[in-house]
Amino acid sequence: MKTIGVLTSGGDSQGMNAAVYATVRSAISAGLTVYGIRNGYRGLMESTADKLTASSVDNVVHRGGTVLGTARCLEMKTPEGQRKAVATLKKLGIEGLVVIGGDGSFQGAKALSSYGINVIGIPGTIDNDLAYTDYTLGFDSAVAVVADSVKVLRDTMSANGRTCVVEVMGRDCGDIALYSALACGAEAVCLPEKRYDPDALAQLLKRNLAANKQDNVVIVAEGIRSDGTLDKGHEAEKVVRDITARIPYINIRGIVLGHLQRSGDASVYDRKLGILMGELAVKCLLDGKTDRVIGIKNDCVFDEDMTEALSKKKSFNESLYCLVGELAKR
Ligand code: ADP
Ligand code: F6P
Repeated sequence: MKTIGVLTSGGDSQGMNAAVYATVRSAISAGLTVYGIRNGYRGLMESTADKLTASSVDNVVHRGGTVLGTARCLEMKTPEGQRKAVATLKKLGIEGLVVIGGDGSFQGAKALSSYGINVIGIPGTIDNDLAYTDYTLGFDSAVAVVADSVKVLRDTMSANGRTCVVEVMGRDCGDIALYSALACGAEAVCLPEKRYDPDALAQLLKRNLAANKQDNVVIVAEGIRSDGTLDKGHEAEKVVRDITARIPYINIRGIVLGHLQRSGDASVYDRKLGILMGELAVKCLLDGKTDRVIGIKNDCVFDEDMTEALSKKKSFNESLYCLVGELAKR
Protein backbone atom coordinates (compact mmCIF):
# COMPACT_ATOMS: atom_id res chain seq x y z
CA MET A 1 0.00 0.00 0.00
CA LYS A 2 1.42 3.35 -1.07
CA THR A 3 -1.41 5.87 -0.77
CA ILE A 4 -4.19 6.29 1.77
CA GLY A 5 -6.98 8.79 2.35
CA VAL A 6 -8.64 10.11 5.49
CA LEU A 7 -12.04 11.75 5.89
CA THR A 8 -14.34 12.90 8.68
CA SER A 9 -18.08 12.39 8.22
CA GLY A 10 -21.43 12.97 9.94
CA GLY A 11 -21.63 15.16 13.05
CA ASP A 12 -18.18 16.54 13.91
CA SER A 13 -16.77 15.76 17.34
CA GLN A 14 -13.84 16.85 19.46
CA GLY A 15 -10.96 14.42 19.03
CA MET A 16 -11.50 14.01 15.28
CA ASN A 17 -8.58 16.36 14.64
CA ALA A 18 -6.34 14.36 16.96
CA ALA A 19 -7.24 11.23 14.97
CA VAL A 20 -6.54 13.01 11.67
CA TYR A 21 -3.20 14.24 13.06
CA ALA A 22 -2.08 10.76 14.13
CA THR A 23 -3.30 9.16 10.89
CA VAL A 24 -1.37 11.66 8.78
CA ARG A 25 1.82 11.63 10.82
CA SER A 26 1.91 7.82 11.25
CA ALA A 27 1.26 7.26 7.56
CA ILE A 28 3.96 9.72 6.49
CA SER A 29 6.42 8.12 8.94
CA ALA A 30 5.70 4.79 7.25
CA GLY A 31 6.44 6.28 3.82
CA LEU A 32 2.82 6.53 2.63
CA THR A 33 1.25 9.36 0.66
CA VAL A 34 -1.85 10.74 2.43
CA TYR A 35 -4.84 12.57 0.99
CA GLY A 36 -7.21 14.53 3.20
CA ILE A 37 -10.67 14.33 1.67
CA ARG A 38 -12.76 17.45 2.23
CA ASN A 39 -16.22 17.38 3.82
CA GLY A 40 -16.75 13.66 4.27
CA TYR A 41 -18.19 11.63 1.42
CA ARG A 42 -19.20 14.82 -0.36
CA GLY A 43 -15.48 15.33 -1.05
CA LEU A 44 -15.45 12.02 -2.89
CA MET A 45 -18.44 13.10 -4.99
CA GLU A 46 -16.81 16.42 -5.83
CA SER A 47 -13.24 15.11 -5.95
CA THR A 48 -11.98 17.62 -3.41
CA ALA A 49 -8.92 16.20 -1.72
CA ASP A 50 -5.49 17.58 -0.81
CA LYS A 51 -2.18 15.80 -0.49
CA LEU A 52 -1.18 16.33 3.15
CA THR A 53 2.26 16.84 4.62
CA ALA A 54 3.34 16.55 8.24
CA SER A 55 2.96 20.31 8.62
CA SER A 56 -0.65 20.21 7.30
CA VAL A 57 -1.62 18.93 10.74
CA ASP A 58 0.51 21.25 12.85
CA ASN A 59 -1.31 22.53 15.93
CA VAL A 60 -4.61 20.72 15.35
CA VAL A 61 -4.54 18.05 18.08
CA HIS A 62 -6.50 20.10 20.61
CA ARG A 63 -8.95 21.74 18.23
CA GLY A 64 -12.69 20.96 18.19
CA GLY A 65 -14.55 20.59 14.91
CA THR A 66 -12.64 18.98 12.08
CA VAL A 67 -9.98 20.61 9.90
CA LEU A 68 -11.03 18.33 7.01
CA GLY A 69 -14.62 19.55 7.18
CA THR A 70 -17.61 17.23 7.41
CA ALA A 71 -21.01 16.79 5.78
CA ARG A 72 -24.03 14.56 5.61
CA CYS A 73 -24.00 13.36 2.00
CA LEU A 74 -27.16 11.58 0.86
CA GLU A 75 -25.68 10.71 -2.54
CA MET A 76 -23.28 8.32 -0.81
CA LYS A 77 -26.26 6.11 0.07
CA THR A 78 -26.96 5.41 -3.61
CA PRO A 79 -25.07 2.94 -5.85
CA GLU A 80 -24.34 5.79 -8.32
CA GLY A 81 -22.87 7.91 -5.52
CA GLN A 82 -20.76 5.00 -4.28
CA ARG A 83 -19.40 4.38 -7.78
CA LYS A 84 -18.53 8.07 -8.04
CA ALA A 85 -16.70 7.85 -4.69
CA VAL A 86 -14.74 4.79 -5.84
CA ALA A 87 -13.82 6.53 -9.11
CA THR A 88 -12.36 9.47 -7.14
CA LEU A 89 -10.38 7.14 -4.88
CA LYS A 90 -9.04 5.22 -7.89
CA LYS A 91 -8.13 8.45 -9.69
CA LEU A 92 -6.04 9.53 -6.69
CA GLY A 93 -4.51 6.06 -6.30
CA ILE A 94 -6.00 5.68 -2.81
CA GLU A 95 -5.97 2.02 -1.78
CA GLY A 96 -6.83 2.45 1.90
CA LEU A 97 -9.26 4.85 3.57
CA VAL A 98 -9.62 5.90 7.21
CA VAL A 99 -13.20 6.98 7.91
CA ILE A 100 -13.75 8.95 11.11
CA GLY A 101 -17.44 9.18 11.98
CA GLY A 102 -20.42 7.38 13.47
CA ASP A 103 -22.37 4.28 12.44
CA GLY A 104 -23.80 5.99 9.34
CA SER A 105 -20.31 6.85 8.15
CA PHE A 106 -19.25 3.25 8.77
CA GLN A 107 -22.08 2.07 6.46
CA GLY A 108 -20.54 4.25 3.78
CA ALA A 109 -17.14 2.70 4.48
CA LYS A 110 -18.61 -0.79 4.15
CA ALA A 111 -20.08 0.12 0.79
CA LEU A 112 -16.64 1.29 -0.42
CA SER A 113 -15.00 -1.89 0.78
CA SER A 114 -17.31 -3.93 -1.46
CA TYR A 115 -15.53 -2.19 -4.38
CA GLY A 116 -12.12 -3.34 -3.14
CA ILE A 117 -11.05 -0.29 -1.12
CA ASN A 118 -9.47 -1.18 2.22
CA VAL A 119 -11.37 0.70 4.93
CA ILE A 120 -10.81 1.29 8.64
CA GLY A 121 -13.37 3.13 10.82
CA ILE A 122 -12.58 5.36 13.80
CA PRO A 123 -15.62 6.13 16.00
CA GLY A 124 -16.09 9.90 16.02
CA THR A 125 -19.37 11.11 17.49
CA ILE A 126 -20.28 12.86 20.72
CA ASP A 127 -23.24 10.49 21.13
CA ASN A 128 -21.28 7.46 22.44
CA ASP A 129 -23.88 5.30 20.72
CA LEU A 130 -21.64 2.50 19.38
CA ALA A 131 -21.93 -0.69 21.41
CA TYR A 132 -18.58 -2.24 20.50
CA THR A 133 -16.48 0.50 22.11
CA ASP A 134 -16.51 1.98 25.61
CA TYR A 135 -16.07 5.50 24.25
CA THR A 136 -16.38 7.39 20.99
CA LEU A 137 -14.31 10.48 20.19
CA GLY A 138 -15.95 13.65 21.45
CA PHE A 139 -18.15 12.13 24.13
CA ASP A 140 -15.85 13.04 27.02
CA SER A 141 -15.50 16.63 25.75
CA ALA A 142 -19.24 17.04 25.21
CA VAL A 143 -20.00 15.83 28.74
CA ALA A 144 -17.44 18.32 30.08
CA VAL A 145 -19.19 21.15 28.20
CA VAL A 146 -22.53 20.15 29.75
CA ALA A 147 -21.07 19.83 33.26
CA ASP A 148 -19.35 23.24 32.99
CA SER A 149 -22.47 24.88 31.59
CA VAL A 150 -24.64 23.55 34.39
CA LYS A 151 -22.10 24.67 36.96
CA VAL A 152 -22.37 28.29 35.78
CA LEU A 153 -26.12 28.08 35.18
CA ARG A 154 -26.62 27.22 38.83
CA ASP A 155 -25.44 30.77 39.71
CA THR A 156 -28.43 32.50 38.20
CA MET A 157 -30.83 29.65 38.92
CA SER A 158 -30.06 29.64 42.63
CA ALA A 159 -30.13 33.46 42.78
CA ASN A 160 -33.70 33.29 41.47
CA GLY A 161 -34.82 30.12 43.25
CA ARG A 162 -35.38 28.54 39.83
CA THR A 163 -35.50 25.02 38.50
CA CYS A 164 -33.71 24.57 35.19
CA VAL A 165 -34.40 21.96 32.51
CA VAL A 166 -31.27 21.50 30.40
CA GLU A 167 -31.63 19.73 27.04
CA VAL A 168 -28.54 17.92 25.77
CA MET A 169 -27.68 16.07 22.55
CA GLY A 170 -27.61 12.36 21.82
CA ARG A 171 -29.84 11.28 18.96
CA ASP A 172 -30.94 7.87 20.26
CA CYS A 173 -28.54 7.38 23.12
CA GLY A 174 -28.82 8.97 26.56
CA ASP A 175 -25.13 8.67 27.50
CA ILE A 176 -24.40 12.41 27.31
CA ALA A 177 -27.40 13.09 29.54
CA LEU A 178 -26.57 10.29 31.98
CA TYR A 179 -22.86 11.02 32.41
CA SER A 180 -23.36 14.78 32.61
CA ALA A 181 -26.17 14.36 35.16
CA LEU A 182 -23.69 12.41 37.26
CA ALA A 183 -20.90 14.93 36.70
CA CYS A 184 -22.97 17.96 37.69
CA GLY A 185 -25.05 16.44 40.50
CA ALA A 186 -28.34 16.89 38.66
CA GLU A 187 -31.55 16.39 40.62
CA ALA A 188 -33.12 14.37 37.79
CA VAL A 189 -32.35 12.97 34.34
CA CYS A 190 -34.67 11.96 31.47
CA LEU A 191 -33.30 9.62 28.81
CA PRO A 192 -34.53 7.90 25.64
CA GLU A 193 -33.76 4.51 27.25
CA LYS A 194 -36.25 5.15 30.06
CA ARG A 195 -39.94 5.96 29.72
CA TYR A 196 -40.49 9.67 30.27
CA ASP A 197 -42.91 10.01 33.19
CA PRO A 198 -43.91 13.65 33.81
CA ASP A 199 -45.97 12.71 36.90
CA ALA A 200 -43.00 11.06 38.63
CA LEU A 201 -40.73 13.99 37.71
CA ALA A 202 -43.28 16.47 39.07
CA GLN A 203 -43.56 14.46 42.30
CA LEU A 204 -39.80 14.59 42.80
CA LEU A 205 -39.64 18.34 42.15
CA LYS A 206 -42.61 18.97 44.45
CA ARG A 207 -40.80 17.12 47.24
CA ASN A 208 -37.62 19.15 46.65
CA LEU A 209 -39.52 22.46 46.63
CA ALA A 210 -41.26 21.48 49.87
CA ALA A 211 -37.81 20.82 51.36
CA ASN A 212 -36.81 24.33 50.21
CA LYS A 213 -34.60 23.07 47.38
CA GLN A 214 -35.47 25.58 44.66
CA ASP A 215 -32.59 25.45 42.15
CA ASN A 216 -33.15 21.96 40.78
CA VAL A 217 -31.38 20.84 37.61
CA VAL A 218 -33.14 18.39 35.31
CA ILE A 219 -31.03 17.04 32.44
CA VAL A 220 -33.12 15.98 29.47
CA ALA A 221 -31.80 14.12 26.43
CA GLU A 222 -33.13 15.11 23.03
CA GLY A 223 -35.39 12.31 21.82
CA ILE A 224 -37.09 11.37 25.09
CA ARG A 225 -40.54 11.37 23.57
CA SER A 226 -42.44 8.20 24.26
CA ASP A 227 -43.68 7.98 20.65
CA GLY A 228 -40.05 7.63 19.57
CA THR A 229 -40.00 10.74 17.36
CA LEU A 230 -37.13 13.13 17.73
CA ASP A 231 -38.02 16.67 18.68
CA LYS A 232 -34.57 18.03 19.37
CA GLY A 233 -34.49 21.63 20.48
CA HIS A 234 -38.00 21.31 21.95
CA GLU A 235 -37.69 18.67 24.64
CA ALA A 236 -36.76 21.15 27.37
CA GLU A 237 -39.71 23.33 26.40
CA LYS A 238 -42.01 20.33 26.53
CA VAL A 239 -40.78 19.22 29.96
CA VAL A 240 -41.17 22.79 31.28
CA ARG A 241 -44.78 22.76 30.01
CA ASP A 242 -45.50 19.35 31.57
CA ILE A 243 -44.07 20.39 34.94
CA THR A 244 -45.78 23.79 34.99
CA ALA A 245 -49.11 22.07 34.29
CA ARG A 246 -48.56 19.90 37.38
CA ILE A 247 -46.87 22.49 39.67
CA PRO A 248 -48.31 25.91 38.69
CA TYR A 249 -46.30 27.74 41.37
CA ILE A 250 -42.89 26.47 40.20
CA ASN A 251 -40.30 28.98 38.95
CA ILE A 252 -38.78 27.08 36.00
CA ARG A 253 -36.85 27.73 32.79
CA GLY A 254 -35.68 25.54 29.90
CA ILE A 255 -32.39 25.80 28.05
CA VAL A 256 -31.03 23.96 25.00
CA LEU A 257 -27.23 23.60 24.99
CA GLY A 258 -27.24 22.46 21.34
CA HIS A 259 -24.08 22.71 19.27
CA LEU A 260 -22.06 24.18 22.13
CA GLN A 261 -21.59 20.53 23.03
CA ARG A 262 -19.64 19.95 19.83
CA SER A 263 -17.57 23.12 20.27
CA GLY A 264 -14.38 24.11 22.05
CA ASP A 265 -11.14 22.25 22.58
CA ALA A 266 -11.06 18.48 22.88
CA SER A 267 -10.53 17.13 26.38
CA VAL A 268 -7.13 15.58 27.06
CA TYR A 269 -8.87 12.20 27.08
CA ASP A 270 -10.29 12.73 23.58
CA ARG A 271 -6.93 13.96 22.27
CA LYS A 272 -5.17 10.87 23.56
CA LEU A 273 -7.92 8.57 22.31
CA GLY A 274 -7.89 10.17 18.85
CA ILE A 275 -4.12 9.80 18.60
CA LEU A 276 -4.12 6.15 19.69
CA MET A 277 -6.97 5.33 17.30
CA GLY A 278 -5.40 7.15 14.35
CA GLU A 279 -2.11 5.37 14.87
CA LEU A 280 -3.78 1.95 15.08
CA ALA A 281 -5.88 2.64 11.97
CA VAL A 282 -2.72 3.21 9.91
CA LYS A 283 -1.12 0.11 11.39
CA CYS A 284 -4.17 -1.92 10.32
CA LEU A 285 -3.91 -0.62 6.75
CA LEU A 286 -0.19 -1.38 6.64
CA ASP A 287 -0.97 -4.92 7.85
CA GLY A 288 -3.32 -5.32 4.89
CA LYS A 289 -6.46 -5.29 7.07
CA THR A 290 -9.83 -4.01 5.87
CA ASP A 291 -13.40 -3.75 7.19
CA ARG A 292 -12.16 -3.10 10.69
CA VAL A 293 -13.25 -0.52 13.25
CA ILE A 294 -11.07 0.81 16.04
CA GLY A 295 -12.42 0.88 19.59
CA ILE A 296 -11.34 1.10 23.21
CA LYS A 297 -12.18 -1.36 25.98
CA ASN A 298 -10.74 -1.33 29.49
CA ASP A 299 -8.30 1.38 28.42
CA CYS A 300 -6.83 -0.60 25.50
CA VAL A 301 -7.39 0.28 21.85
CA PHE A 302 -8.20 -2.61 19.54
CA ASP A 303 -9.51 -3.32 16.05
CA GLU A 304 -12.53 -5.48 15.31
CA ASP A 305 -14.50 -6.67 12.29
CA MET A 306 -16.78 -3.83 11.19
CA THR A 307 -19.92 -5.89 10.53
CA GLU A 308 -19.63 -7.74 13.81
CA ALA A 309 -18.99 -4.51 15.73
CA LEU A 310 -21.99 -2.78 14.19
CA SER A 311 -24.30 -5.71 14.93
CA LYS A 312 -23.77 -5.33 18.68
CA LYS A 313 -26.57 -3.76 20.71
CA LYS A 314 -25.63 -1.13 23.21
CA SER A 315 -26.57 -2.01 26.76
CA PHE A 316 -27.89 0.64 29.08
CA ASN A 317 -25.86 1.48 32.19
CA GLU A 318 -28.64 0.83 34.68
CA SER A 319 -26.42 1.07 37.74
CA LEU A 320 -25.16 4.54 36.77
CA TYR A 321 -28.76 5.62 36.21
CA CYS A 322 -29.76 4.31 39.65
CA LEU A 323 -26.74 6.05 41.20
CA VAL A 324 -27.84 9.43 39.77
CA GLY A 325 -31.27 8.89 41.38
CA GLU A 326 -29.75 7.69 44.63
CA LEU A 327 -27.38 10.66 44.99
CA ALA A 328 -30.16 13.14 44.18
CA LYS A 329 -32.27 11.96 47.13
CA ARG A 330 -32.52 14.41 50.04
P1 ADP B 1 -22.88 9.42 11.64
O1 ADP B 1 -21.75 8.93 10.83
O2 ADP B 1 -22.44 10.38 12.70
O3 ADP B 1 -23.76 8.30 12.17
P2 ADP B 1 -24.88 9.97 9.62
O4 ADP B 1 -25.79 8.86 10.01
O5 ADP B 1 -25.51 11.27 9.25
O6 ADP B 1 -23.80 10.33 10.73
O7 ADP B 1 -24.00 9.46 8.39
C1 ADP B 1 -22.98 10.26 7.85
C2 ADP B 1 -22.86 10.00 6.37
O8 ADP B 1 -22.51 8.64 6.13
C3 ADP B 1 -24.15 10.21 5.57
O9 ADP B 1 -24.42 11.55 5.29
C4 ADP B 1 -23.82 9.43 4.31
O10 ADP B 1 -22.95 10.17 3.49
C5 ADP B 1 -23.07 8.22 4.88
N1 ADP B 1 -24.00 7.11 5.10
C6 ADP B 1 -24.90 6.96 6.09
N2 ADP B 1 -25.62 5.81 5.95
C7 ADP B 1 -25.14 5.22 4.83
C8 ADP B 1 -25.48 4.01 4.11
N3 ADP B 1 -26.45 3.18 4.55
N4 ADP B 1 -24.79 3.73 3.00
C9 ADP B 1 -23.83 4.55 2.54
N5 ADP B 1 -23.46 5.70 3.15
C10 ADP B 1 -24.10 6.04 4.28
O1 F6P C 1 -24.77 12.62 16.01
C1 F6P C 1 -24.21 13.71 16.65
C2 F6P C 1 -25.24 14.81 16.87
O2 F6P C 1 -24.60 15.89 17.52
C3 F6P C 1 -26.49 14.37 17.62
O3 F6P C 1 -26.29 14.33 19.01
C4 F6P C 1 -27.47 15.42 17.18
O4 F6P C 1 -28.81 14.95 17.23
C5 F6P C 1 -27.08 15.67 15.76
O5 F6P C 1 -25.72 15.27 15.64
C6 F6P C 1 -27.22 17.10 15.34
O6 F6P C 1 -26.96 17.17 13.99
P1 F6P C 1 -26.74 18.54 13.21
O7 F6P C 1 -25.38 19.04 13.54
O8 F6P C 1 -26.86 18.13 11.78
O9 F6P C 1 -27.80 19.48 13.70
